Amino acid sequence: MIIPEETIENIRESNDIVDVISEYVALNKKGKSYVGLCPFHKEKTPSFSVSQDKQIFHCFGCGEGGNVITFMMKYHNIDFIEAVRRLADRANIIIPENNGGFDKEKMDLKKKLFKVTREAAVYFYRNLRSNHEGLAYLNKRGIGPDIIRKFGLGFANQGWNDLIDYLKTKGYDEQTIEKAGLVIKKDGGGYYDRFRNRVMFPIFDVRNRIIGFGGRVLDDSKPKYLNSPETLIFNKGFNLYGLNLAAKQQSGRKMIIVEGYMDAIALHQFGINNAVASLGTALTKEQARLLKRYCDEVIICYDADTAGQAATLRGLDILSAAGCKVKILNIPKGKDPDEYVRAEGPDAFRRCYDNAEPLIDYKIRRKSQGFDVSTTEGKIGFVKSCVEVLNSVEDPVTVDAYIKKLANETGISASALYEEMARFKKNGQNTFEKHISGKTRYNNNIDGQKLYLEPAYLKAEKSILSMLYEDSSLFEKIARSIGWDDFNDGVYREIAHIMYEKLKNKENIIPGSVISIFQNPDDMKKAAAIFERTVSVKENDIDKVINDFVNIINKSKLMKRKDFLVSKMKTFEKKGDVEQSVKLLKELGNIEKQLKTL
Ligand code: CTP
Ligand code: MN
Repeated sequence: MIIPEETIENIRESNDIVDVISEYVALNKKGKSYVGLCPFHKEKTPSFSVSQDKQIFHCFGCGEGGNVITFMMKYHNIDFIEAVRRLADRANIIIPENNGGFDKEKMDLKKKLFKVTREAAVYFYRNLRSNHEGLAYLNKRGIGPDIIRKFGLGFANQGWNDLIDYLKTKGYDEQTIEKAGLVIKKDGGGYYDRFRNRVMFPIFDVRNRIIGFGGRVLDDSKPKYLNSPETLIFNKGFNLYGLNLAAKQQSGRKMIIVEGYMDAIALHQFGINNAVASLGTALTKEQARLLKRYCDEVIICYDADTAGQAATLRGLDILSAAGCKVKILNIPKGKDPDEYVRAEGPDAFRRCYDNAEPLIDYKIRRKSQGFDVSTTEGKIGFVKSCVEVLNSVEDPVTVDAYIKKLANETGISASALYEEMARFKKNGQNTFEKHISGKTRYNNNIDGQKLYLEPAYLKAEKSILSMLYEDSSLFEKIARSIGWDDFNDGVYREIAHIMYEKLKNKENIIPGSVISIFQNPDDMKKAAAIFERTVSVKENDIDKVINDFVNIINKSKLMKRKDFLVSKMKTFEKKGDVEQSVKLLKELGNIEKQLKTL
């Protein structure tokens, strides 16, 4: 499969390298870069560096490097196309299929759907302002004009054709409106409005596009909420309500997940701006990944009975697996967050927030409920199920702390608990092993690389490119003495080609973008290295240094041609083709003359 260059570039641009890598590696800002422990070799002090400006990563320890695509390839042990696919997914970008036309259509349709949902939202919003019932309902629930504006709340009128008629006057056709999930096809032909006589909650994605709606009835009739169906642009499991607002907050990289529209809105209203809603569904891997871009800790605030459900618990495990610290916030008196914060105020809510229970404690507490720990039998059963919980914990320090706590509480020795864990591990599988050891097929030869001595011409070619990147004012000088096609090494030649083009047109060079022309991790790594080194040269020596490098490159080129000619001549001579051989001899003489001047 061939993915068009501009699509690859679009995908790369939509996946900031710092965002992506921080889903896998804990990064800290240090100067202009982010640093962390290299996932590709074992180390105790960080030598893995990610540059947001350059959009590349580089490990000063093991030499791995590349752009965001290379990172995905190496980390997951997948090929270029698969890495690009996953990044496309992550950024919600559709990759055009081979026949190009079809998916261009899909992309255009998506754009059209975003336009029609926006138009509908504006219409609902205006309706609400003139709809007494809708306003009164929201008022009754404590929602005023500011919040209505902030969340773009609206109202769907009573009729069966109200919205569809309006959108048609705006030039949208019925098929598009249906594809946006706004109307339903009638059996006998024709369409009717999906949302009628409901308060409308537009659902935004992180890029503030409207992907769907939820609509609530004004009374107790059923269904209480009606939501957009899955469409080309609305995929419930890929988004969280309110994330467009919460993502902009600086809340110490923490997020609160609640169940409902009203809960998220109420928390925002009371200044708890990092709330998002999962809209009554279990959390998915995609949502976890999305959240991890904006936070390191997730506080889940569900109804007591939903919180304990298996699907919810699985969602919490998915969040931990994505690298989030997970806590469970318990709301007293069986209230939902909306009711609680309105009744007791934001300070009371914040107290609950501060007391949120870490996921492990929560699980252990739940397990203990099934056992009567006053009996020996109950105690053993309890401990065994705790061990099961602890086995899913990766961090040994955390495990140790819990084991000690458990030993204290039950009177069973810590060593017996550890033994039980070991036994459990032997029987259970440990799927994380591969990731923890960080061994991939690309990094098992770290020491071997150091034995390799780089020929002088390679160093010269690399250095010239590094100098060009660092100081584009050198371009004319360099281009005058060496063309991009004079570079001997294939990778460097391609990079020289691109850099020369860009510099000629006075365009910016983005390393992460340049690297995407290669699809092989070794080439990508070689390319990344160019942008991660500085060639320190004193101002006065620059001309001489460039000259030396150029000579080395030219010399190597001539030597290669010479070797080629010599071997060719030999074959001609063997065949007795003297004429041909003499022709080559002339070129050889020329080359030798040139070599003498270098
Ligand atoms: N939900 C839904 N369809 C329903 C009921 C619920 O899609 N028939 C989703 C909605 O996203 C809702 C969430 O599940 O916001 C949580 O449901 P619930 O707690 O019943 O609703 P609240 O958000 O508390 O709504 P309200 O306070 O208006 O009753
Ligand atoms: Mn509620």
